[in-house]
Amino acid sequence: MIIGNWKMHKTSGEARQFIHSLIPFIQNISTSVFLAVPFTAISSCVEAAEGLKLIIGAQNMHDADEGAFTGEISASMLKEAGASFVILGHSERRQLFYETDAFINRKVRSALQSGLQPIVCIGETQEERALGKTQEVLTRQLKDSLFGLDLTRVVVAYEPIWAIGTGQAATPAIAQTVHAFIREPLPKKNIIISAGSVNPGNLTALLSEPDINGALVGGASLNVEDFAQLITLRNSL
Ligand code: 13P
Repeated sequence: MIIGNWKMHKTSGEARQFIHSLIPFIQNISTSVFLAVPFTAISSCVEAAEGLKLIIGAQNMHDADEGAFTGEISASMLKEAGASFVILGHSERRQLFYETDAFINRKVRSALQSGLQPIVCIGETQEERALGKTQEVLTRQLKDSLFGLDLTRVVVAYEPIWAIGTGQAATPAIAQTVHAFIREPLPKKNIIISAGSVNPGNLTALLSEPDINGALVGGASLNVEDFAQLITLRNSL
């Protein structure tokens, strides 16, 4: 599973243009690729991706279905716009917008109820890793954000915060060790994907690890050539 996360990049027009440029690279792929785009680009991307193995999703949502939550968006709004999945609990949401595991738990529940595939992000800071707290942090995030939910329906993304946007991806060995740890309490077949400075130069090595089932890609998904290269690499495995 390769998911591009555009974060706050690309207008609806730029997004449509990106997908048109991507068409030659995804026409013959066997498994779908995923793109999490800004809310305003969802509809145009869904339209542009019609007939392609390209699945469009969102990067966040509120857990309530409607209400007085200025600036927020609900699962049913995302569904109607054509989103198929939603990234929840991204470290940027946790750190910059103070989202808690309890809030993320409610969002995951709402996404599942609405038929949106949740991609739940967890990850430790550099400091937590240095203090030997990686397992403790991940266990807490997993437990609290997935409490009481159907675990078979959740995709987990391991995003070490120190690797996001730094060019310093986790080595395949580090990522594999953590993925194996995350997998323990989850159903065996769950998809666990890796994130943090994933690019065409390190994707293949990451995907060759037994417990790494894909990648959540930020920066390298913004550029057609890089994203196409990631898809080609994945497709050739
Ligand atoms: P980068 O790939 O730019 O490090 O971003 C990772 C990320 O946050 C994906 O959600």
